[in-house]
Amino acid sequence: MNEKYKIPSWSFKGNKGEFILEDPHKTSGLYFPLANEAGMMSSITPLLAGDIKTSQNTFLMQPVSSRDLHNSLDSRNFWLNIDEKFIWSATGNSAYQKLMGFKTESEEKVELEAGYLWHKVTRENKVLGVSSEIINFVPVNQDKVELMKVTIKNIGDKKIKFTPTAAVPIYGRSADNIRDHRHVTSLLHRISTNEYGVVINPTLTFDERGHKVNNIVYSVQAVQGDGTSPIGFCPVEEDFVGEGGSLDWPEAIVNNKISFCGKYKTIDGFEAIGAIRFQDCSLEPRESNSYIVIMGINDSGLPIEEYVSSYGELLKFEDELEKNKLYWETKLSSLSFKSSSRDFDMWMKWVEVQPIMRRMYGCSFLPHHDYGRGGRGWRDLWQDCLALLLLEPKQVRELLYNNYGGVRFDGSNATIIGSKPGEFIADRNNISRTWMDHGAWPYLTTKLYIDRSGDLEFLLEKQAYFKDKQCRRSREVDTKWTDEYGRKQKNNDGSIYMGSIIEHMLLQQITAFFNVGENNNIRLEGADWNDGLDMAVEKGESVTFTAFYGSNLMDLSKLLKSIKEKLKIEEIEIALEMTTLFDTLRGRIDYDSVTEKNNLLNSYFDLCIHNVTGEKAMISIDELSSDLERKANWIKEHIRKNEWVKTSDGFEWFNGYYDNDGKPLEGQFKSGIRMTLTGQVFPIMGDIADEEQIEKVILSINKYLKDQKVGGIRLNSNFNEVKLNMGRCFGFAYGHKENGAMFSHMTIMYINALYKRGYVKEGYEILSMIYKHCSDFEKSRILPGIPEYINERGRGMYNYLTGAASWLLLTMVNEVYGIKGSLGDLKIQPKLLMEQFDNNYLASIFTTFRDKKINIVFINERKLEYGSYRIGRATLDGKTIELNLIEDSLVIDKTYIDKLHIDDKHELIINLV
Ligand code: G1P
Repeated sequence: MNEKYKIPSWSFKGNKGEFILEDPHKTSGLYFPLANEAGMMSSITPLLAGDIKTSQNTFLMQPVSSRDLHNSLDSRNFWLNIDEKFIWSATGNSAYQKLMGFKTESEEKVELEAGYLWHKVTRENKVLGVSSEIINFVPVNQDKVELMKVTIKNIGDKKIKFTPTAAVPIYGRSADNIRDHRHVTSLLHRISTNEYGVVINPTLTFDERGHKVNNIVYSVQAVQGDGTSPIGFCPVEEDFVGEGGSLDWPEAIVNNKISFCGKYKTIDGFEAIGAIRFQDCSLEPRESNSYIVIMGINDSGLPIEEYVSSYGELLKFEDELEKNKLYWETKLSSLSFKSSSRDFDMWMKWVEVQPIMRRMYGCSFLPHHDYGRGGRGWRDLWQDCLALLLLEPKQVRELLYNNYGGVRFDGSNATIIGSKPGEFIADRNNISRTWMDHGAWPYLTTKLYIDRSGDLEFLLEKQAYFKDKQCRRSREVDTKWTDEYGRKQKNNDGSIYMGSIIEHMLLQQITAFFNVGENNNIRLEGADWNDGLDMAVEKGESVTFTAFYGSNLMDLSKLLKSIKEKLKIEEIEIALEMTTLFDTLRGRIDYDSVTEKNNLLNSYFDLCIHNVTGEKAMISIDELSSDLERKANWIKEHIRKNEWVKTSDGFEWFNGYYDNDGKPLEGQFKSGIRMTLTGQVFPIMGDIADEEQIEKVILSINKYLKDQKVGGIRLNSNFNEVKLNMGRCFGFAYGHKENGAMFSHMTIMYINALYKRGYVKEGYEILSMIYKHCSDFEKSRILPGIPEYINERGRGMYNYLTGAASWLLLTMVNEVYGIKGSLGDLKIQPKLLMEQFDNNYLASIFTTFRDKKINIVFINERKLEYGSYRIGRATLDGKTIELNLIEDSLVIDKTYIDKLHIDDKHELIINLV
């Protein structure tokens, strides 16, 4: 690439998130999601590569990993053979055009424009006098189809004549077959042509489910914009590419093959391609012609020609595109921010898209996410709910309720999560893995729900517990469990045990409390949030998640008091077995003794290996609350005192872990400074660190982990060792993924923690760093949004599907704009810096609270900096409201909000003085 070539960056256009990027094809690895709620999931690149699928076993286009995006020739393509002289791919995907793409001043002008959720690439070739505009999207209905409209225009001054051919390779099988029986599974293909295209209906599927009769039909059909059908097909890939040819220089196109396959033919047992030939087209200058390509995965048994009736005309395509835009705009309309930076506000809209994408794609189906078989992990499930609470709160109660059905009686949880809500799949392995952090997240999400809704009754709802072979936190198996038992915990009498949601929450925190290693922190087990810390099962401990559980225990003790006060109840019902775990109620144990803690937990585990009694005990809320408080205070003191490390040059911070030799992970070592960000985040967020400690931690983080090059705070310093007694992440090269990259999720949680504890300037500085890096396209090379991490070269990796997006939304709403709930009341405490207010001294957030749409506008006329302003006056829909200030927050009673009209948009204006 020419040294002087400056890569253009994307820029926003309009106010609906649309952005434009010139020369998108000159950056490798870009991709964009196209999906619908019916389960269609596509990924698409500027050259229209990527893939199309509905599940691990049903890929229409061959599955791609990130490096296939530039290496694989499989792409949606549309070819022109112009005057039998020039071969031109309207998608840019011909060998010749790709070669020319390296030239700085290439002969083609290419531009990507995208919005939620559509993708448009325009390409002009002045030399040939032709341009293309290609729009792809997935319609927002129950059809599993991706639509593509290709418009070819004569932009020269002479008439042009060309032969147009659409060509989309059809893989039509399970992702597993890439390596497992790739060729043999092509023999299953039953290929046919109809009026409009190529249809594959494999006879069987060969994958991990065994050999099964296949009902899925994969199709690529196409029509001209006026509804005219094509003239022929070339459905067998080897005929299309020709001997010695390739998908980016196919013989059928290059030699303008005329012996095409007719309609209603069958050719079985080959790799297939939806190669669809249209009648030759002549265009006078400025004239254009359009073609609509419909790529479908059909399991409904309905005739696939119906897709053509639904989408095969220009007006129908445009209509669906409008519906698509409207659908996504409406979905994303419940939250938006306005600040001094319009670009930042627009970028945040793309962050809003991300949690919805993760709900749809899980963690498996975009090019970087080339692992797993669909679905999400337990941790991700709960964290994605955080964003749902802010974006689509109505669905959340049921979702949370269903998720609690995944908790096991030993405090661990199901780890294989099905695609339907509340579906958990039994783990049949003899020894499976337990992630020690899993029990901590549900509380955090549920607390956010309770705070925003005030729905304390939810906590008393009864839910079952999950049961499979695993018991004692997967250290042993229940040999009596079989599939016939089912996946719900039973009582001795064979009935299903049901316990309240609060019982589930208590169990998760309290079993963790006793599950300590030799240094009296909670055992690391299979790993914590950092999946890469997976080699310290025996002696590893996670101090940082001990802090998280500690803060949950403290919070829960307060929540119990609220239940007592608001629901007017004195006692709650707990499984008889669990009473063992509330040791304060009957002869305390010594929390400094690891043995006493472990013994107590083991005696509890003994009681719930197979069935439970089903008996309940009523426990006084006050006593329960003090039991939790005692435990929380013990953790706080323990971490403050024992887990503080110092270096010889005066830097101090928390030790976050113990390795598999029972030794502290962090501190000053011969090999250098060893520090983790995770180790600092939860002690700060969870009120374990005191102010002096926070300040010292910030200094140490800035010294050892902050790095402009990666646009934020690194996950850890360089340990210069493949630490086999800690985890696989130390095998990764330094600066990548869980070994010292700028891992967005943890950095955003750090920002959240800083804001929460009042370190607003410090938090904002890092937030700005991340945003600036991500929006500096030349460095990050990603489309708008926050990636999972920024690698050593500053490149954004694993776009779209990251828990960082949920946490960023939460941080913006709850902390930066300070719009919180407090048992259903609206509590407002802005933490905006002066520079976030626009030229009119305004900053605002549009959000829903208790189903009411409210635009909350902060006016900072006196140009005061955060820390020197307070809330001086507030009006709601023009009427002054009572200034009920509690600890600097404006609290508006829920009854007041409930009186607001549900269909109106309300305006709350808050003057800062
Ligand atoms: C990913 C996983 C998440 C895990 C994290 C660190 O993060 O999805 O469960 O905690 O790696 O190992 P994400 O992609 O959500 O940012």
